[in-house]
Amino acid sequence: MSTAEVTRSTTTVGIVGGGPAGLMLSHLLHRNGIDSVVIDNRTRETIEHTNRAGILEAGSVRLLTETGVSDRIFTDGYRHEGIELRFGGAGHRIDFEHLVGESVWLYPQTDVFIDLADARARDGGNVHFGVSDSSVAGVTSDAPTMSFVDAEGQHHEVTCDYLVGADGSHSICRAEIPREVGVHHFREYPFAWFGIMTEAAMSAPELIYSHSDHGFALISQRTPTLQRMYFQCDPNTDPTAWSDDQVWHELDRRTEVPGFVLAKGPITEKVVLRFRSFVCQPMRYGHLFLAGDAAHTVPPTGAKGLNLALMDVKVLAEVLDRAVNGGQTSALEEYSPRVLERVWKAQHFSYWMTSMLHTLPGEFATFDTARQVGELNMVVQSTNGRRFLAEAYTGWPEKR
Ligand code: DHB
Repeated sequence: MSTAEVTRSTTTVGIVGGGPAGLMLSHLLHRNGIDSVVIDNRTRETIEHTNRAGILEAGSVRLLTETGVSDRIFTDGYRHEGIELRFGGAGHRIDFEHLVGESVWLYPQTDVFIDLADARARDGGNVHFGVSDSSVAGVTSDAPTMSFVDAEGQHHEVTCDYLVGADGSHSICRAEIPREVGVHHFREYPFAWFGIMTEAAMSAPELIYSHSDHGFALISQRTPTLQRMYFQCDPNTDPTAWSDDQVWHELDRRTEVPGFVLAKGPITEKVVLRFRSFVCQPMRYGHLFLAGDAAHTVPPTGAKGLNLALMDVKVLAEVLDRAVNGGQTSALEEYSPRVLERVWKAQHFSYWMTSMLHTLPGEFATFDTARQVGELNMVVQSTNGRRFLAEAYTGWPEKR
C-alpha cells in the first residue's frame, strides 16, 4: 500500500483492545477531556456474543453507574448479598451484607461491553471494531504509533502521546516489552472448566460453589430463564463429545444435598475454559501501559478478571489525567505499583478459591480432598474466615 493511501492522525491515547478495559478507559478519559482512539480486531457482534463471567464487585458497579455508562445494571442485573459454599453434603451461606456491608451484582460481561460500546457511541467516541493488520511501534519514544486497516479497508496510522495495551491475554502490545525488562509470573492448573448455558429456571437465588468427591461445580445464573453452570474437567476435554445427559449427571452428583433439585433445560452452549494465573510486571514500559488481561489473567473461580480490568483503567485514567491535564508526568510512575498490589491480592484469592474447591489430581488426592473439607470448615465456622472471603469476593476497598 502506498503512503498516499494511509490516513494519518494524532490522538492523546491510543488504545489497543475494545473490550471492557479499553472502552472503560476511553470513556473515563473522555470525561476528563482527553481524546483517544480505540481499535479491536474483533467485530462488535463477536464480542457481544462471547459469553464471559457474570459477577461485578460493588466498586465495579459504582464505577459503571456513577460515571454515566449505564443504569441497566439496576434494572436488568441481580443484586446478590451472598453466595453458598457447598461441601460435605450441606450448604453454608456466606452473607456478604452482614459480614462486610457490601453486595455483588450478577450482570454479564457481555452486557457491560454493550453498555460501554453504546456509551462511547453516544459520546462520539472514536472506536474501530473489526480492524486488521494492527501493529504498534515506538513505545519508548514520545510519539508511539498505532497502525491498522479499518473494517472498510482504509489504512490508518495514529500517532499518540501514550499507548495502552488492553488487548487481552494474547496482547500484541505486551510483545513490545523486551523480555529482560520485567518478570512474567505464570502458573498452570491441571484442570479446566466445562461451561454450559441452559434454558432452565434458576435453581437457587444465589451462586453455589460446590466442592465434592467428584470435583468442583458452580451453579451461576443469567436470567429467570437462562442459566450458566460450570464443572471442573480435564483440560483436554472435547465439549462436543459430551451429551446433555452426561453433563447433567456430573452437575447433579457434584451439587447433591438433601432437598436440592437442579433445574434443567436444553443446553445451548458447551465450552471448555482452560485457565492459568499470569502477571506481567511491571505493567508500564516507556509510553506503553498494559491493562486487564494483557497484563494479568486469573483463574475464573471468584470472577475477578473483569473487575481487575476495570480497577486498572480507573487508576490509569486518573494518572493520565494528572499527566495530561495537570502536567504532572511523574503521576504515571504510580500506575504499575498501585494496581499490582490489588492484582496480587486477586491472584491469591482466585488461586485460593480454586485450590480449596477443585479436586487435585495425583497420589495425594484423597488426602487433599479431606484436607479441603477441613479448610472449608475453618472458613465457614469462623466469622473471621467468612469475612475474609466476603471482603475479597465483594472487592477490597480502594487504596489511595
Ligand atoms: C461466573 C463465573 C465465575 O468465574 C464465577 O466465579 C462466578 C460466576 C459466571 O459466569 O456467572
